[in-house]
Amino acid sequence: QSLKPFNTFGFDLSAKYLVELRSVADFLELRSTWQWKDQPHLIIGGGSNILLRHHFEGLVVINRMQGLEIIEKQEDFVLVKAGAGMNWHEFVLFSIEQNLGGLENLSLIPGTVGAAPMQNIGAYGVEIKETFHSLEAVNLNTGELEIFDTHACQFGYRDSVFKAELKDQYLITSVTFKLVPAEKHRLSLEYGVIRQVLEEKNIISPRIKDVSDAVISIRQSKLPDPGKIGNSGSFFKNPTVSKEKYEQLKAEYPEIPGYVLDADTVKLAAGWLIEKAGWKGYKENGVGVHEKQALVLVNHGEGSGKAIEILAKKIQDSVLDQFGVALNPEVNFI
Ligand code: EPU
Repeated sequence: QSLKPFNTFGFDLSAKYLVELRSVADFLELRSTWQWKDQPHLIIGGGSNILLRHHFEGLVVINRMQGLEIIEKQEDFVLVKAGAGMNWHEFVLFSIEQNLGGLENLSLIPGTVGAAPMQNIGAYGVEIKETFHSLEAVNLNTGELEIFDTHACQFGYRDSVFKAELKDQYLITSVTFKLVPAEKHRLSLEYGVIRQVLEEKNIISPRIKDVSDAVISIRQSKLPDPGKIGNSGSFFKNPTVSKEKYEQLKAEYPEIPGYVLDADTVKLAAGWLIEKAGWKGYKENGVGVHEKQALVLVNHGEGSGKAIEILAKKIQDSVLDQFGVALNPEVNFI
């Protein structure tokens, strides 16, 4: 069974068995089969944050659980519950059609609703932890459905409990978001070029939809469309360094972008470091570094997961060598 449609890098590796889940009941049934019990398994949503390096000698489970429900409506918030297998961007568009705010800066992120809390997806100054309410997940060991609130998810930068202590122990089945009716919502327009894009369009008092449209156009101008060129968004996380280290770098590279997190930590832009180290647009063995965003590694069609792994290592070594900064992958290596 080819995994090509199930990973946005588009690598043509295979799984011994593949199953698509449409409901919690589907999963409970699967859980009693020998294919589940006796073999390694891998659960994927949109496959937009994985690097496949080998054929998978086991069972790959694709989460396709749908469902969309407004479960509570108050004057200043609305709770919306979505199936984990739903396409993330379709869900964002639904929230905008309902005139609900909170997700517009997260427009056009590849992947599914269920994958979003796994790594606390974020873009243009917003992370999902800000609108997250709770999620339901099946405990793979007990088969019980459990509820996780924001605290239980332990969200961090591109991180949650599901990437740490509870890795591979739960199947997320639905996620509930606490969104805000347009008239009560405060737009986030501070990051990057959002304001500039709105001004260029002569939009003076933007609506939720205008911000979403601006984010979509910014993303389309910088990030490769996985439907056309295989990639999984940012390959590395943006690294944090001490204030002292940042000052040293700044003395040597006055234009280095840095975002102060607290009194002694600064977040650097990995894309800037990689570009400065000379990798932007670089190609080898069918893979490469995107020509408009150096943080994105791409499959030019004839590449492989191993070739990406080798290239990623070279980039890490070169950035460490030139700047003394270690880059860590954001993508999950399989
Ligand atoms: N930069 C360069 N060269 C590059 C890329 C970036 O100099 O090739 C500089 C930019 O000029 C800017 C800074 O680096 O000063 C930051 O760049 P950008 O705003 O494009 O964002 P990023 O830090 O590279 C992060 C997220 C993206 C998200 C954008 C926008 C991570 C790992 N990545 O990228 O998320 O869309 O901010 O909010 O945090 C993803 O996670 O897959 C992803 C695409």
